[in-house]
This record gives sequence, C-alpha cells and structure tokens, in this order.
Amino acid sequence: MISIKTKQEIELMRDVNRIIGLLFEHLRPLIQPGITTYELDREAELFIRSHNAKPGFKGYRGYPATICASVNNEVVHGIPGPRKLVEGDIISIDVGAIKHGFNADAARTFPVGKISEDARRLIDVTKRALDAGIDKARPGNRLYDISAAVQKVAESAGYGIVRDFVGHGIGRNLHEDPQIPNFGKQGTGPVLKEGMTFAIEPMINMGTWKVKILNNGWTVVTADGSLSAHFENTIAITNDGPYVLSVP
Ligand code: MF3
Ligand code: CO
Repeated sequence: MISIKTKQEIELMRDVNRIIGLLFEHLRPLIQPGITTYELDREAELFIRSHNAKPGFKGYRGYPATICASVNNEVVHGIPGPRKLVEGDIISIDVGAIKHGFNADAARTFPVGKISEDARRLIDVTKRALDAGIDKARPGNRLYDISAAVQKVAESAGYGIVRDFVGHGIGRNLHEDPQIPNFGKQGTGPVLKEGMTFAIEPMINMGTWKVKILNNGWTVVTADGSLSAHFENTIAITNDGPYVLSVP
C-alpha cells in the first residue's frame, strides 16, 4: 500500500530533507584530493546532528555509517573508511536523516578535482535521468512513467541502468511501498496521487547494467569495472507538480 501524506506531513518531510540539500553544499568544497571518505562521513554526521536531526542510515539493517561513499566503479553502499580521494575520481554520496519522525534520503555524484570528459558526461546524464523521472511524478500519471523516463535518458546515452537496486516510497520509514525501478513500461503501474512521497534514484553505469556485491556484504560495484554515478531526490506529488524536498 502506498501511503498518502498530508500537506503538514509533507512540510515536515521538507524540513528534514532540506538539511540533506544543505549538507551537500557544505560537503562540496571539502571534496578534494587527499580527503578520506571517513572524514566526509564524520563531517556529515556532525552537520546532521547540529540541525537537530539524526543520521538515517546508521544502524539501518546494521549499516555502520552516516553516509554511503561510493567511488568510481562502486555503485552504491560504499562504506566510509581510510581511502583518500585522488584527482579524477568521482564519488557518490548518499545520505539519510530523520527528524519529526520522518526520513530524508538523497544522493549526488561529485567530481574530485579535474575529471575526464567521459566521467563528466556520465554525471550529467545521471542527473538528467533523475530530473526526467521527477518530471513524471504527477497526479494521474502511472508509476512506471517515472521508470521509463529514467531508462530512456540513460540508454539513449549508451549507458547501463542498474536493475538490482531501485527507488522507493519514503516517509515514517526509509523504505516504503512502492519500489520504483529505473526501467519499465510507460503507461503501466499504480496511478500516482497527491500526497505520495518517493525517493527516485537512478544508478547509471558507463558499461553494462550488471553489478556485484563485495564480501563486506554492502558495497555494490559494477561487474565490468566501469564507472557508475548516482543521483537521488526525495519528492512529493502535488496537484501543482513535483515538489523536490531534498534541496536547500
Ligand atoms: N538510498 C539508499 C537506499 O534507499 C541508501 C540506503 S543505505 C542503508 O537504499 F544503509 F541505509 F541501507
Ligand atoms: Co534511497
């Protein structure tokens, strides 16, 4: 069942998601060669707590950190550690927070210093795929209109859209119904209604869509070793159009 939030509840979700939008602006200048993913994690946790919220991922199904930090061929769920970023890397940072009993969830892929043209294009296409999906999040549309729009942007650029991980409903729980695949058939799926709140999150590989999970049980990497990017926003469906919650 897809839960419907009231306007007041959506404003509470806006409040916690805005913190994550602000956090990305706080982290952006720190993402430089030499910083470790652990340092970015600590910075994120302090920022979230200083805004009277709690990290949303820490302890969730045993996840050990505030952020997921996925570098280069890592797709999602990279665990922060002593790895130092180097010029030319790309890093996807995925963060959750909880406040007022509601969850925030968002991700961005950042360049580390100067990156290749190819990596830049992957990042741009992934962001565009997210925006194309969000644009379909309107009352009266079907769920897989979102999926199909994301898939079209990724595949027409020649990239692989990850199939093993999906977006999701979000609210009092981090993961609620429905699952939101990043591929699907336009005009199918549940009818979208005002008050639904979704985390839409395309994960796009420069090579094939195939992924594998490392022995730590968390880190997802591309099967072919190619680069991967990830953008995610939490949005609400309103009669005035998609309301993006996880921005400053
Ligand atoms: N955005 C990711 C998701 O929705 C982040 C979850 S990481 C976890 O699955 F640690 F919380 F599992
Ligand atoms: Co998510």
